[in-house]
Amino acid sequence: MDAKKGWTQLWLKYDRREDCGNGKYLTRIQTEGFDLNHCIVKSALRELQNALSGMLGITAKTDGANEERQIGYPMRNEGLILRKMICETAKDLGKDHSEKFADNTKNIAKITHSGKKLGPEGYAISQEGEGLLIEAMDENGLLYAVFHLIRLVSMGKSLTGLHVCINPDNPLRMFDHWDNMDGSIERGYSGESFFFENNDIILDDRIVDYARLVASIGINAVVINNVNVKQTATYLITDRFYDKISKMAQIFADYGIRLFISLNYAATIELGGLSSADPLDSQVVAWWQEKMKECFSAIPNLGGFLVKADSEGRPGPFSYGRTQADGANMLADAVKPYGGIIIWRCFVYNCTQDWRDYKTDRARAGYDNFIGMDGDYRENVILQIKNGPMDFQIREPVHPLLGGLQKTNQMLEVQIAQEYTGHQIDVCYLIPMFKEILDFHTYCKPGADTVADMISGRNMGNRNTGIAAVINTGNDSNWTGNDLAAANLYGFGRLAFQTSLSPEEILDEWIPMNLSADPEVIATVKRILLHSRETYEKYTSPLGIGWMVTPNSHYGCSVDGYEYSRWGTYHRADHLGIGVDRTDKGTGYAQQYYEPNASMYNSIENCPEELLLFFHHVPYNYVLKTGKTLIQHIYDSHFEGFDEAQEFAQAWKSLKGKVDETIFNTVRERFERQLENAREWRDQVNAYFYRKSGIADEKGRPIY
Ligand code: GCU
Repeated sequence: MDAKKGWTQLWLKYDRREDCGNGKYLTRIQTEGFDLNHCIVKSALRELQNALSGMLGITAKTDGANEERQIGYPMRNEGLILRKMICETAKDLGKDHSEKFADNTKNIAKITHSGKKLGPEGYAISQEGEGLLIEAMDENGLLYAVFHLIRLVSMGKSLTGLHVCINPDNPLRMFDHWDNMDGSIERGYSGESFFFENNDIILDDRIVDYARLVASIGINAVVINNVNVKQTATYLITDRFYDKISKMAQIFADYGIRLFISLNYAATIELGGLSSADPLDSQVVAWWQEKMKECFSAIPNLGGFLVKADSEGRPGPFSYGRTQADGANMLADAVKPYGGIIIWRCFVYNCTQDWRDYKTDRARAGYDNFIGMDGDYRENVILQIKNGPMDFQIREPVHPLLGGLQKTNQMLEVQIAQEYTGHQIDVCYLIPMFKEILDFHTYCKPGADTVADMISGRNMGNRNTGIAAVINTGNDSNWTGNDLAAANLYGFGRLAFQTSLSPEEILDEWIPMNLSADPEVIATVKRILLHSRETYEKYTSPLGIGWMVTPNSHYGCSVDGYEYSRWGTYHRADHLGIGVDRTDKGTGYAQQYYEPNASMYNSIENCPEELLLFFHHVPYNYVLKTGKTLIQHIYDSHFEGFDEAQEFAQAWKSLKGKVDETIFNTVRERFERQLENAREWRDQVNAYFYRKSGIADEKGRPIY
C-alpha cells in the first residue's frame, strides 16, 4: 500500500521488475497526429512515463508531435511511435469498408499499417525493428494501447514480435456505483464511498487513481450514484453540485470516461415544484428540457442518466397510466440535443406480492413489462437488463428480454458487488458466470444470437449498447475488502473490452500484476478462483432456486427468510418436493424464450439440471442424471461445498510469505469467515430438507 495515500494501486503497481529486453523499445516516444495538449493524450503519456520509470527505471523522452508524419506509413525502427490514424482517402479504407464493423459503428473503420481494421477506441501495436508502433484512431484507443503495453511490461512479457489489433467488443463499458451521498454504499462490502461523504462530493487524489484503474481495464462510462435516488442525491442535477460534478467529470474525461448520473424520476415534483411527473404532461416535458439544457451546459463530459423507475418503490410513469417507453422517451428527447443517453432499467416487478399467489411470477415481470414496446424507444435510450430475471443470484437463467427485444438498444447489467454471492467475505470469482451469460444462445436470429452479439451491437447494427456492472469498490485501502474480489473488478473490465478472453486468461494477467508472479501463487490462486463460484453454489441454494438468504442483508442462510414475504422470491418446498413450476403448466415463464430454449426449459428431462428448481417443482426422490436423487444431491453438494471452502482456506495458508503480508492476513481472515458461513449454510439447508422430507442421508453424515 502507498502509505502516503492510504490505498493500494491494485494492478497498477509500478515497482521495479526485469527488463526482459523491452527497454530498448521504450526509451524514446514519438507521437504522430495526436494533439499533445489533449487531456487523454497527456494522461496516456504521463502513465507511460510513470510506469516505465517505476518498472524499468527508464526515463522515456518524448520527441513531440510530428504533424507531417500523420499521413502515410513511414518506416521507423526506433522507439515507441504513437500514431493517430487519419483516414484521408477512400483508398485507405480498403474495398470492404462498408463491412459489418464500419456500418455498425457508423464510423469508418481505419486500416492500420499491418492491414488490420481499427474502429473507435481500438488500437494496434506492432513491433518493427527496434521500434514499436501504436496506432489508434482516437485518444481512448491510444490510452488503451498504452495500458496494454504497461500490462505486458508489468507481467514481464517480451514485446518482441508483438502484433495485436484490438477493437473493444462493447461500445459502452460501464461501472454503476450504488454510492449514496451520505457516504454509505447500497450493497457495498468494502467501506464507504470515495465519491461522497456528509451529503457532499469528495474531490481528491483517490478519484484520479480510480479513473486510472478503471480506464486501464477499458471502462469508458461511470454512474456515480445509487439507482435509488432519494434526498440529497436528487439535487445532483442542481447548481448545488454542478461545480464539483464538473470537476469530477473532468478527472474522468482525462481518462476517456464519461460521467453518468442516476436520476430521480419524480424530480419535477421534488425539485420543480410541479404536481406531476406524467411524461406526457407538457409542463413536465418543458421542465425536463430546461433542466437538461442546464445540466449539459454545467457539466461538460456528461454522458447521460441512469433511471430506475417504477421499481421497488421508486416513482415512474406507471403512476400516471403511462408506459415505460413514454417515460424513457420523454427524457431521451430532452437529452438528445446534447448527445446524451438515457439508460432505463428493466428491473420492474411487483414487490408487494402475496406469497399465497402462485400465478404472479416475478421472473416474468421484466419481459411482460417491456416486450410489448420493442421498437418504440428512441435511438438514445438503452434498456439495461439484469443478467437474470430475478436478482443477481448465484445461478439464474439468462433474462429472456436479452435477445427477446429485437428492435431496442440493450445493455447487460451484472453485479460484481457480491450482494448474493458472499459479500466479498466468501470468495466468488464471477467471470466464468459472466462468460456463460455472454455465450448464451437466445436463438433470436440465426448467426448472431448470443447475448454478446446483442449487447455489442453486432446483432442489430446499433451503437448504443454495452455492458454495466454494479461495482464492488469502497474506500477500504485495498478497494474491494477481500483482495481476491479485485479479480472481479479487473476481470469485468477486461471481459467487457474483449469478450473472447477466458476466465483463465484474465487470471493469468491479474494474479501476477496484483499478487505475485510466483508460479505457486499463480497456480494456487487460479485453482481457488476458478472453482469458487461452483463451491459457493454448492453450499448455498441448490439447482437455481436462489434466495434462502438472510432477509435485508442477503448474507448467510435463512431457508425460509423470504418464503412468506412480499418480494416474489419463493422456493415452494413442502414435504414432497421443492421448486417453482415455471413451465406451461405453471407460470408460463419458460415460454418467454425462443425455441428451442422454451421447450428445453419446459421439459423436466431436458432442462439443464443446474436450473432444475428454477423451472420445475421436483419431488425429493426424483433421480438426476448423476443417478442421485434430488435430496441426496442437496446433501452431497452441501457437504462438498463446505469441504471445498475448507480446502481453499488451507491452500491460501500455504502462500504465507509468498504474497504481501497485509493481503495474506486480510484474505486469511475472510476465509475463516467464509468457513463459518459455509458451515451454517451446509447444516441449515441439510437440516431443513431432512426435516421437510424425512429422508435420511445415504451416507449417514451428521444432519441436525
Ligand atoms: C436488489 C438490491 C437493491 C437494489 C435493487 C436494484 O433488489 O437488493 O439494493 O436497489 O436490486 O437493482 O435496483
